[in-house]
Amino acid sequence: MWTIEYRPKSLKEFVNQQEAVNTFLRWIKSWKPGDNPLLFYGPPGTGKTCLIQAYAQEKNLEFIETNASDVRSAKALETIATSTQQRPFLKKSKIFLFDEIEGIIGRVEVGGVRAILELIKKSSFPIVLIANNPWDPKLRSLRELCKLVEFKKISIWDIEKRLKRICELEGTKPEKEVIRELAKISKGDLRAAINDLETVARGKKKITVEDLKILGFREKEISVFDALKIIFKTEKALAAKLAISNVDKDPEEIFLWIENNIANEYEKPEEIANAYDALSKADLFRQWIRLRQEWRFKGYMIDLMTAGVSQAKKAMYRKFVKYKYPSKLIVLGRTKIERAEEKEKLLELAKQLHCSTRKVRSEFLPYLKILAKT
Ligand SMILES: Nc1ncnc2c1ncn2[C@@H]1O[C@H](COP(=O)(O)OP(=O)(O)O)[C@@H](O)[C@H]1O
Ligand SMILES: [Mg+2]
Repeated sequence: MWTIEYRPKSLKEFVNQQEAVNTFLRWIKSWKPGDNPLLFYGPPGTGKTCLIQAYAQEKNLEFIETNASDVRSAKALETIATSTQQRPFLKKSKIFLFDEIEGIIGRVEVGGVRAILELIKKSSFPIVLIANNPWDPKLRSLRELCKLVEFKKISIWDIEKRLKRICELEGTKPEKEVIRELAKISKGDLRAAINDLETVARGKKKITVEDLKILGFREKEISVFDALKIIFKTEKALAAKLAISNVDKDPEEIFLWIENNIANEYEKPEEIANAYDALSKADLFRQWIRLRQEWRFKGYMIDLMTAGVSQAKKAMYRKFVKYKYPSKLIVLGRTKIERAEEKEKLLELAKQLHCSTRKVRSEFLPYLKILAKT
């Protein structure tokens, strides 16, 4: 997998996260036994794991990573605890990483937080913890002990930079918009961006925007949610109109998404009425386009359903709305069943792999997909 092949081998190759890197370096350089661990958190694919790997490789340290699947018993944790007190065999020092710490302390057999706190206190080497959610009440005592280090989404610019570098090393030449587009749909997740790049680029000398079509449903779905957010929240008609131009779904389908979510977003009856009014006019044009192939009406339809709906409100609602999948599409597309099946499969895999379904999705699934293709 390219995410592994192109994992940074030194801090020079590590992009972005300046603040986290600085905090980490300051901590590691002055670390002595008895010092407290760092607790990394932040969205997936932003370098939490590979920062430590890159540093260990650069400094020739023994890197020992532990996750929930390695710690199935109190005995297993003891072995790791012992290792935190033993000198390394070949290298001059060690660094420990506990990934998805919630999963590790969640194993009752292990003795939970207490056992980890004990291990940390006695360790002769620096330890870094990674949490999915550092505010989890289970983690309170650990959180109080640790210095929290936030990893942020990686900027589009840095994602582009890394993707370009990988293309160079692979000897493929993407069109400029390909890299831009991949960076955009990754939403700050570099792992996802590299996986997508691998999917479209493997074995190709040239990559065109056309090749991006084979990317799955995930990215598109995310961007339709984003488009809805813009349409419903913005006060600018033009912004609402432009919002759908980057969505890889046709206006007919976006129409259904908007229709299904008006009453989710807007609360005042007159606003809901105004929004549906705009939408009903858009619907007239939609019918004309459908029945008479009057394509010139498409612009009116789009203006009404985006700008029209966005102007229906008096002021933006400052609330988080979980936009719903259009019910018509569920009936038509059977996606609900597919998703339920997917969830079931993910749970099964998560159980086998001893990690969260979220990790299965982000780290194992791309690999399995490639395996399944070959
Ligand atoms: N900041 C970064 N610089 C360079 N590569 C990165 C960075 N963040 C992620 N990657 C790439 O994405 C992959 C997954 O990153 P990882 O550190 O495992 O993410 P997570 O934050 O989920 O632990 C890495 O193997 C690497 O190829
Ligand atoms: Mg990780």
